[in-house]
Parts: sequence; structure tokens; C-alpha cells
Amino acid sequence: MKLSIALSVALVSAALASAKPLPLAKRASADDWKDRAIYQLLTDRFARPDGSTDGCSNLSSYCGGGYQGIIDKLDYITGMGFDAIWISPIPANSANGYHGYWATNFEALNENFGSEDDLKALISAAHDKGVYVMLDVVANHAGPTENGDYSGYTFGSADLYHPQCTIDYGSQTSIEQCWVADVLPDIDTENQNNIDKLNSIVSNWISTYGFDGIRIDTFKHVRKDFWPGYVSASGVFATGEVFDGDPSYVGPYQEVVDSLINYPLYYGINDVFASGSGFSRISELLASNKVAFSDVSVLTNFVDNHDNPRFLNKQNDVAQFKNALTFVLLAEGIPIVYYGSEQGFSGGADPANREVLWTTGFDTSSDLYQFIANVNKNVRVKSGKNITMDVAVNDNTYAFIHGSVLVVLNNYGSGASNFVTISAGGLFSDGDTVIDVISNITATVSGGNISFNINNGLPAIFQRA
Ligand SMILES: *[C@@H]1O[C@H](CO)[C@@H](O)[C@H](O)[C@H]1NC(C)=O
Ligand SMILES: *[C@@H]1O[C@H](CO)[C@@H](O)[C@H](O)[C@H]1NC(C)=O
Ligand SMILES: *[C@@H]1O[C@H](CO)[C@@H](O)[C@H](O)[C@H]1NC(C)=O
Ligand SMILES: *[C@@H]1O[C@H](CO)[C@@H](O)[C@H](O)[C@H]1NC(C)=O
Repeated sequence: MKLSIALSVALVSAALASAKPLPLAKRASADDWKDRAIYQLLTDRFARPDGSTDGCSNLSSYCGGGYQGIIDKLDYITGMGFDAIWISPIPANSANGYHGYWATNFEALNENFGSEDDLKALISAAHDKGVYVMLDVVANHAGPTENGDYSGYTFGSADLYHPQCTIDYGSQTSIEQCWVADVLPDIDTENQNNIDKLNSIVSNWISTYGFDGIRIDTFKHVRKDFWPGYVSASGVFATGEVFDGDPSYVGPYQEVVDSLINYPLYYGINDVFASGSGFSRISELLASNKVAFSDVSVLTNFVDNHDNPRFLNKQNDVAQFKNALTFVLLAEGIPIVYYGSEQGFSGGADPANREVLWTTGFDTSSDLYQFIANVNKNVRVKSGKNITMDVAVNDNTYAFIHGSVLVVLNNYGSGASNFVTISAGGLFSDGDTVIDVISNITATVSGGNISFNINNGLPAIFQRA
């Protein structure tokens, strides 16, 4: 009897499952994310629900972006070939928490971004267009209080937090238990009730809205063995933010989460394209990462984000930026491109790097928008995923294979027209004619090499003509 009830329940749910597709969140695995490119946006800064386009007078407070704005501009994102977005944290925040990282009541929404229905509509609209949605989540801390008053907070009394202290970055225990920026109350993640609460909160976010993945903030600020329970409660792909450039420090965190934000490589990318280091810098980091991480193919690569001055603020050369973006979009790993890159934004330290996008009129004809669309749509999604890095590593040129194409980057800068002879890595045969997807210039393979003139400092992406 019991058995037959169980069986019919199973049959009914199987029938339901085949009648109605499972939400994407149940299906998206690390493997699914591996084939995607993520557009990182700040919900408050990307698009306004009412479509208005006047500027924002104070980037330290709310500027008016929201969920309906994102829905209205999804085509702007997919038009560049992105098939995933990363949005800001969703819970209610302390005053001026426009970025979302200052939660008070984790179980209420930040109403500045829209209603529960608006958020559900965003995820549904994204899924209709085949776009995954990654939620930014915080478990380390709550938002700043007014004079230690925790009323309205999910973690509603001082004893649910570690005692206030200033982080000593030489001590891992201090990193985990003292307060980020001195003012963010550090949730006591040794307290079992707190742990259960945090796990049920993330589980509810995923099941209520159907997110496909999470990006976990301040990952190194919570003890490692807290994370497996949290990640498993979410039930989706997770990438953790360990803000550190040392592979041997960041790598071991992959024991407790699918993926990490690739901060080690971020520093290498900036050194090579913004500061003139030779490409051996990147090559050495790739080698160190291979040793330090258990799976580099799911690390999330980026050149810009909301916590660092933008690339064009450090190096105002669009050709260098295009080389860096091409590396991010096509190198082994999951690419993340920060909103505003496509409009040439060049803001400095936070909050200047959190510009409002709408003043650009969402111009899809801009040079960088077109460039990103070309690399994403004509190369990344079409060329296959068998990637071989380090085909050639020189001071000023670097080649790697992405499926059926040979990517040749350089860091000479705009105006450069150097004659380059570089290995084709066995991808093409002698006598083959190859064409550069960026410039349409053709070349002939000879002695296993391709020889060509760099076109105005731009990268070259060769495919068989
Ligand atoms: C901008 O907003 C922040 C946060 O409310 C406030 O501290 C600051 O004084 C404001 N700046 C200006 C110029 O109004
Ligand atoms: C992947 O690419 C490498 C280098 O081009 C090649 O040797 C290898 O056979 C390829 N593997 C597959 C599965 O296609
Ligand atoms: C390259 O050729 C394609 C296809 O004909 C064309 O759309 C594109 O504008 C060309 N690009 C350049 C830089 O000439
Ligand atoms: C291929 O290019 C490399 C690098 O420029 C060079 O050292 C090598 O001699 C070239 N091989 C042939 C057969 O020309």
C-alpha cells in the first residue's frame, strides 16, 4: 500500500515534470554555466523602470534603476551575445545601500528595485530569452546600524554578531570574525541558529524566484567549512569572491564551492594590458592556478568590476582594452563583463566606477558594443570549447586556441602595426588561408606559423577562410 502510494506520487510528479519544464534553476549545473558569458550589472545603475535618462547627482545613494528597467533592456544585453546576467543583492538594506550589500531584513526585498512581482517578471523574461540570472548574495555581514540598533534586522540583536573589531589582514581568524570596513556587523557564523537561518534564506531566494546561480560576496570573511552547507542549501552553481591575488590563497577555497572569481588572473590581465608587463605574467598565473585550483575551467574571469577602478581609468587605450576583453571572453573559464564596458566607461574608485548607464541612451552602435557583440556572437558561441592556452607566449604577443580559432593578442597599444610571426599551434595546416574575424585581413599559414601586420593594436582572431 505504502509502496503503491509512493509509486503513484512518483508517476504523478513525473507526469507533471514532463508537462511543465522544471525551472532553469533546477537544471543549471557548472557545466551549463561553462558555456555562458555573464554581464554583470548593478541593479540601481543599469536602467530605470520609467525609462527616464537624466543623470544621477550622487553616486553614493540611489539613482533609480530597477527590475523593470532590466526587463526593458534585456535585448541590449543579449544583443552583445551575453546569455547570463549577475544582478545586485535583493534584500532590504540600511540607508543608501544602493549596491545591496548592506542587508537589514534578509527576508524582505529592497523596494527601491521593485516589487516581488517585478523580480519574478525579470527572471521569467530572462529565461524566456535563454538568459540565466545569477544572484549576488551576502552571508558574512549585515548593513551598518544606527548606533547599534538592530530593530528590523533578521539578526536582531548584538549577541548574534561577532564583537566589533578591526580586521588584521595578517590573521585569518581576524579576517573571518572582525568587521569588514569596521562598520559591517559580522554575523556569528559559528552560531547554529544563525547558520540554519542563513541556509534557509538562500534556499528561499532560489526556490521563490528561480535564480540559476549565485555569486557569494566576502567569501574569505567566513570560515571555509561554513560554505558547503550554504552552497548546498542554494542548490545552484556558486562562484565565491575571494578578493586576493595569490593563487595559493584563493585556490583551496574551491574545496568548498564550485567556482571562484578569478582575482589572481585579474591582476595579471591588468598588469599585461594596462601596465606593460610581458605575457609571461599571464602564462605564469595560468600555471599557478592549475596547481592551486581543482578546476580552472569554471573560474569566473573578468577585467573590471564594481570594486576596482575601471580598466580605461588606469589605461585609457581602447585597443589595449579590446585585447583584455578578448582574453576574458575567450580564455579558459567563464567570462564576466562589467556593465558600461561597452560604452567605454572609465570611472575610478568606487563609487565613480558605478556610473549610471542610461545617460548613454543604450547605444548599440558604439565601437565597444559592436566589438563585444562580434567576439561573443561570431566567435565565442560558434567556435567550440576546446581551449588550449599558451600556444605562444612573448613579451608583446600571446596566442591561444579557442575551438576552431587562433586568438592572437598583443599589448602594443592603439596605432601599432608591428609585423608578427606566431605559431598556429597546429590548428591550421601549411598553405591554409586564414581570416581575422576582427579586421577581415587574410594570411597564409607557413612553417606552422601565421605572419601578419597587427591592425591598429587590435587583437586578431584567425579562422579558416
Ligand atoms: C551623497 O549621498 C551620501 C549618502 O547619502 C551623503 O553622505 C553625501 O553627503 C551626499 N553627497 C552630496 C554631494 O550630496
Ligand atoms: C583539442 O585541441 C588540441 C589542440 O588543438 C588537440 O590536440 C586535441 O585533439 C583537441 N581535442 C579534442 C577533443 O578535440
Ligand atoms: C568583415 O566582414 C564582415 C562580413 O562581410 C562584415 O560584416 C564586417 O563589417 C567586416 N569587418 C571589417 C572590419 O571590415
Ligand atoms: C615560426 O615562428 C617562430 C616565432 O616567430 C620562429 O621562431 C620559427 O622559426 C618560425 N618557424 C618557421 C618554420 O618559420
